[in-house]
Amino acid sequence: MTVTKAPIDRGRFSNKTVFIMAAIGSAVGLGNIWRFPYVAYEGGGGAFILPYLVALLVAGIPLLLLDYAIGHSQRGSAPLSFARLSRRLEFIGWWQVAICVVIAVYYAAILAWSAQYVGFSFTQAWGDDPETFFFEDFLRSQSTSITLDFVPAVLITMLIVWLLLIVVMALGVQNGVGATSVIFIPVLLIAFGALVVQALSLPGAIDGLQTLFQPNWVALLDPAVWASAFGQIFFSLSVGFGIMITYASYVGRKIDMTGSAFVVGFANSGFELLCGIGVFSALGFLAQASAVPVDEVVAQGIGLAFVAFPAIISEAPLGTLLGVLFFTSLVLAGFTSLVSIMEVVISAVRDKLELGRVAATLVVTVPIALVSILLFSTTSGLTVLDISDYFINRFGILLVALVAMLAVGWGIRRVPWFAEHMSRYGSIRLGRWWVALVLFITPVLVAFMLVLEVIDAVTVPYGGYAPWMLAVFGWGIAAAALLAGILLAIPKWKASTPLEAPTHDEEVIR
Ligand code: ALA
Repeated sequence: MTVTKAPIDRGRFSNKTVFIMAAIGSAVGLGNIWRFPYVAYEGGGGAFILPYLVALLVAGIPLLLLDYAIGHSQRGSAPLSFARLSRRLEFIGWWQVAICVVIAVYYAAILAWSAQYVGFSFTQAWGDDPETFFFEDFLRSQSTSITLDFVPAVLITMLIVWLLLIVVMALGVQNGVGATSVIFIPVLLIAFGALVVQALSLPGAIDGLQTLFQPNWVALLDPAVWASAFGQIFFSLSVGFGIMITYASYVGRKIDMTGSAFVVGFANSGFELLCGIGVFSALGFLAQASAVPVDEVVAQGIGLAFVAFPAIISEAPLGTLLGVLFFTSLVLAGFTSLVSIMEVVISAVRDKLELGRVAATLVVTVPIALVSILLFSTTSGLTVLDISDYFINRFGILLVALVAMLAVGWGIRRVPWFAEHMSRYGSIRLGRWWVALVLFITPVLVAFMLVLEVIDAVTVPYGGYAPWMLAVFGWGIAAAALLAGILLAIPKWKASTPLEAPTHDEEVIR
């Protein structure tokens, strides 16, 4: 008699609310708070609503539905789900895992800096020169050399971030991943809502909003604006890099998957709009306080969070409160996203090696944490962050999303089957409109955006960095993610891991 080992209990979200909260927690992140306002402003302000909505409806939500369909029907991490569809497609799942590793390495650093700036908001440690303080005193950044000179303050905060992350991840899908979002997302809404109210009451706020929403229709003729709308939606909605496949694999068969996708898509964009309003009101105030046009103070990413906002905090009435709200929001939004990014990796390793939750968490998190800490608590972390973020977004996320669409759409021709599966488990039917989008329209658009991005990256060296740096931390890391995907797909699955998805009847229906 042969005794077959029961497959590992992968865990699951207890109900629809926890799943939706976790998905929103993943989507709402640094991308919303510090990238969207600038991308919208640069891309034509009020006119940007058009490419943004097109990107959301034509690529963001359809791809979210595809991710859901893959994870929900195949009941596995990204590599297991793709392997179940076809062993030849498994590399796509590992490629996504590798992309998540790269993102996690720098995302954790930004969280650590933000956490530290919650404290700095009380003392306004940056004095009257936030820029010099951040780059020279706080990070001791050098953009031209790579050194291993630890910055103790950053090191300690990073250790705390990674330890907290290990605790949350070890607690499992429901009690760790799900519960964190259920608690953090409402707190985030309250904190950011209060920030928006305070920012709107500042003098100059209206100028800031006018600058953001002033429509510049001519910008829409620039294909780069459309590419940036697509890039923004992919990163912001967490689609295409394994997260939503993984989360959907933890959902009971009775949960409305299609309805949830629309809820998550619109909740993420709604929050993004709120971020635009909060950030540009504050920038309007900064412009007025510095007696310059708003255009001169707009910034994104690191410049926005660690240079412009400290300046705003120093000038604004109740500045400390504004600072605490802003940096706490960054930490809360970022943490739930980082949890989702790490879950892609942990879930994949767990499935492949059939490890327990705690063992998988440690095996995955400790090495990533070490790399992250080594890179980002040394004085040269900033350069690596900037370059790898730019390249992995374009030649990681956009590219893998395109390959995944082509592979399942044209390689194994499963898209109509996915439409049926999702329609069976959802309140909104995925009809021919969705099939047409995933098979034709979205891949063509994404391919077009990618070509533009390649031309851009080749003709204008990003950020004026040295060619060897772009080659190693940019092209090199993006290529390494793909190579890692191919290599990690080679080892065979254990005999006890079924390579067919469990059928409807084999599952406990909840
Ligand atoms: N979706 C996450 C963000 O916007 C990764 O930051």
